[in-house]
Amino acid sequence: MDSGLLAVSYIGASVLFILSLGGLSHQETARRGNVYGILGMVVAVAATALAEGVTGYSILLPAILVGATVGIFVAMRVEMTGMPQLVGMLNSLVGLAALLVALASHFSPPPGLSPTEEAILAVEIVVGVLIGTITFAGSLVAFAKLQGILSGRPVLLPGRNVMNIAGLLMVVWLGYEYLAVQTGGGGLLSSDVPANAEFAVWLLIVVLILATLIGIHFVLAIGGADMPVVVSVLNSYSGWAAAITGFMLGNDLLIVTGALVGSSGAILSYIMCRAMNRSFLNVILGGFGTEGGSITTGVDGEVIPTSTLDTVNLLVGAKEVIIVPGYGMAVAQAQNVVSDITENLRLKGVKVRFAIHPVAGRLPGHMNVLLADANVPYDIVVEMDNINDDFPNTDAVLVIGANDIVNPGAAEDPASPIAGMPVLEVWKAGTVVVLKRSMATGYAGVGNPLFVKENTRMLFGDAKESLSAINSQLPT
Ligand code: TAP
Repeated sequence: MDSGLLAVSYIGASVLFILSLGGLSHQETARRGNVYGILGMVVAVAATALAEGVTGYSILLPAILVGATVGIFVAMRVEMTGMPQLVGMLNSLVGLAALLVALASHFSPPPGLSPTEEAILAVEIVVGVLIGTITFAGSLVAFAKLQGILSGRPVLLPGRNVMNIAGLLMVVWLGYEYLAVQTGGGGLLSSDVPANAEFAVWLLIVVLILATLIGIHFVLAIGGADMPVVVSVLNSYSGWAAAITGFMLGNDLLIVTGALVGSSGAILSYIMCRAMNRSFLNVILGGFGTEGGSITTGVDGEVIPTSTLDTVNLLVGAKEVIIVPGYGMAVAQAQNVVSDITENLRLKGVKVRFAIHPVAGRLPGHMNVLLADANVPYDIVVEMDNINDDFPNTDAVLVIGANDIVNPGAAEDPASPIAGMPVLEVWKAGTVVVLKRSMATGYAGVGNPLFVKENTRMLFGDAKESLSAINSQLPT
């Protein structure tokens, strides 16, 4: 493929990626967005593989085949609840790729570079090692936390922010020394050391070690409730890592795609922080979940259990019902039976709507995907900001496997570890029925006073089993 056709293919792929992001921002167009993304990636890979001067097909083709097979296998098997872990794992691979390309660029730089180009490449290599390694190490820790291999509690070392800043300043200095060695200039260290290849490698190794420590430390310090933001931040880093890789390889499409992923990840992180009423810096520096109060595992007060039959009577007698789905609905795979109950109640003239918290479940849009899968109509699925004022006029609320996102402590108790996080104010409704298996806390590990409110009834048991019983007892 000549360079003209390659440029056209790259522009086409870039447009498809932009259309894909646009499609993914609305539930109705998300599938189309996915198709655009797949097409864009097929065009990108095919054009790059067929570009003029590309050789080594004996390695390239098996690599594509193995990568595609593993990707398809993993994607087919992953449960929706395991999606954040998968995203974490994929982010780590982008980081690793950026790191490897940076090291490859150091050991075999493109021939015939001018001194200015050599200096630019040296900067790209250091930035590639730094961002690639932070993304790689941080994403592996995020994976381990989400998978439950490591505890979700924040690990807060004394003086952690000073350590992070000192680490980054050291990387800047080492980068400066590396630049000096690679371009024959004089750095603080390199003025005494004759510019040699071995010294440059050592500088890169120290940058790599520091970046690994920064990446691990950065994610370890962040508590359970902030993990969605961290996954999104790492996603953004993986985009910037890909963009740096694009600079090193001289590949325009990789630069554009990396910038798209980097900036959309950053915007998503910002939106999530706003949803939790926290500043981005507060999330990154905060160690949320321990400061401002101790983590409580229980709450004092009387718990009022209820039965499926009482819940059926409540629902049938209600004019307006709001259903709040959470992580437990995903675990129980209860979305289809929820959809059946909704249809039944609507046929009886009950107004049923779903209230979606921005961080319900374990990944952005988690609940929307499950409900769409179960054919719940889009127009009754309402975002938090558009439904929170309606709870006082609602007769009954069904909280299905949700916990942190309906915790009144966030709104009413300034000492609560999650104080200030906007939550669905379900306790303002007539009666709230909470479906969960026990009194256990949710992801943030914080006790929930909702469970002991006067107007709350606890329907203990697996959400799917309880809902199936409700469904079978609903009059037809
Ligand atoms: P959680 O606060 O995690 O609560 C889920 C509840 O579901 C648990 O208390 C659990 O109680 C119950 N449950 C589990 N399995 C169940 C089953 N089979 N049947 C019935 N109930 C079951 O969930 P949430 O309210 O959706 O809040 C989400 C939390 O996850 C937030 O803290 C958020 O910050 C965090 N998070 C979100 C994301 C994104 S992007 N959405 C990503 C990572 C983390 P029992 O054990 O008593 O049943």
